[in-house]
Amino acid sequence: MQPKASVRGLPLYKPGKSLEEVKRELGLEDVIKLASNENPFGCSPRVWKALEEIKGEFQYYPEGAAPELREKLAEHLEVDPRRLIFGNGSDEIVQMLARTYLEPGDESVMADFTFPRYDTVTRIEGGVPVVVPLREGVHDLEGMLAAITEKTRLVWICNPNNPTGTIVSQDALSDFLDRIPPHVLVVLDEAYYEYVTDSTYPDSISLLDYNPQIIILRTFSKIYGLAAFRVGYGIAHPDVIAELERVREPFNVNRLAQKAAAAAVEDEAFVLYCRNQNRMGIKQMTEKFDEWGLSYFPAHGNFILVDTGHPADEVFQHLLHRGVIVRSGVHLGFPEHIRVTVGKKEQNERFLEELHAFLQKRGK
Ligand SMILES: Cc1ncc(COP(=O)(O)O)c(C=O)c1O
Repeated sequence: MQPKASVRGLPLYKPGKSLEEVKRELGLEDVIKLASNENPFGCSPRVWKALEEIKGEFQYYPEGAAPELREKLAEHLEVDPRRLIFGNGSDEIVQMLARTYLEPGDESVMADFTFPRYDTVTRIEGGVPVVVPLREGVHDLEGMLAAITEKTRLVWICNPNNPTGTIVSQDALSDFLDRIPPHVLVVLDEAYYEYVTDSTYPDSISLLDYNPQIIILRTFSKIYGLAAFRVGYGIAHPDVIAELERVREPFNVNRLAQKAAAAAVEDEAFVLYCRNQNRMGIKQMTEKFDEWGLSYFPAHGNFILVDTGHPADEVFQHLLHRGVIVRSGVHLGFPEHIRVTVGKKEQNERFLEELHAFLQKRGK
């Protein structure tokens, strides 16, 4: 039996290698994972406590609308609760967007290179991905505007961009939004929002007030340290939310995940701690890169895309065999770069030592 045409030959998503996989395959005990932009500090202890409280509730389906999480998050973000939608990770909202807005033949505009799911979900719906190359690792908003046709339904802006870590500024984004035609919805994927400290970074929620054509995506998988639970959310005009709600699976965010996220959102001190540690980690790593003459993109999230000057798979394998998992840039569009997640100080040190050993052996 054949799958539908749009699914035939679709590339499989290649996640970073897991700790378990590397330990098993290479027989290593002491492995660190700096590959999937997870939070090395775990999550707020409030989450553990909250989960204890619902031990007797596992036989019940969750409430589909996630009322407790909705209320707490709406208060935290200072938005109307009707402006929120929750997903099984923001990945699921990415999928819901394509399912809701794309007919076969419709176009969705995205950067090359960016988060690969925008391309995949577009293709699944029979849509056409229109890719606009990055300019020095940054979204080319003028180019993206020029790529919009009457067939365009979605425009994806990943901010900070994965894998480059670069941002588009408030001014550039506002100017872009002012010129977007009315048949297009702009998706601002802000998975790394809480890590950004740059003052030019957009206050996207304020943009929403006078621009109903945007949806902001955020997640509990990154700074909140809840990747295992899979919770993401979208913030948009209630009309957009109402359409997405039609395609949402009834119980898409599970009971544990809702509880965990609702507890995590209250612990602002934890988020602040992680943000500061992350900034220090970026400094720790980039000082060494500068010393060794390696170039890298300005890192605004919790990862750095660094040019090693060598085939990325070789660097990746070298590090892997020494128990340090990073992402090779080969499948991310950067054949000589690696993407490394910022870890704890001692993890960063270990990564830097192993990378340095490689560079000394191979010359840089
Ligand atoms: C830019 C971007 N968007 C979305 C996601 C998906 O996050 P979630 O775990 O919420 O599905 C990721 C995960 O790495 C990401 O980097």
